[in-house]
Amino acid sequence: MGAILKEAAALELPPLPWAPDALEPVISRRTIEFHHGRHHRTYLEKLAKAIKGTEFEDESLETMVQATAPGRPGAKPAIFNNAAQAWNHAFYWESLAPRPSGPSRELTKRLDADLGGLDAAKKALGKAATEHFGSGWAWLFVEGDKLRIAATGNAETPMQRGATCLLTIDVWEHAYYLDRQDKRAAYVEATIDKLLDWDRASRRLGAGA
Ligand code: FE2
Repeated sequence: MGAILKEAAALELPPLPWAPDALEPVISRRTIEFHHGRHHRTYLEKLAKAIKGTEFEDESLETMVQATAPGRPGAKPAIFNNAAQAWNHAFYWESLAPRPSGPSRELTKRLDADLGGLDAAKKALGKAATEHFGSGWAWLFVEGDKLRIAATGNAETPMQRGATCLLTIDVWEHAYYLDRQDKRAAYVEATIDKLLDWDRASRRLGAGA
């Protein structure tokens, strides 16, 4: 019974943490509805097919991602790509908030020590997101006891190698094309400026690092 519930949870489309129009004018309702209702849902549907009859049927997304990542002996691209995209999207929705709060005292201290402060971290995240070539993600994460900022390609995530992720920005074109066509920098800048939830990052830091 527990296994059935666990599998259902891993393959279920998680509800958005806010109304689909709550991020306007930075991200439109239309973009959110396509992104969540079509793209995110499709990764889960493809994942359900990819894990059918495998040892991953009862596993969490984290386990699937870490066990099937590129370079692992058990690398399985069809499972990895869809499980990682499902995990990354759920993480992205919860990285954004219509009226985000700033970082906690603890996160502020870590940002000062590791990245030169909040403003420098925002700048580095913007640069990573804007300059990444092709589809992918920009991340703030903890690895080796340090805060780090980096972009990953396609479905890859720092979580696949055990890092604690704190925030992400989706830089696949489907995240901004309907609203801004090819202007990724404008989407990235507005998202960092208006929507990134540093309070959520602070809670993730407290829970995992
Ligand atoms: Fe996406």
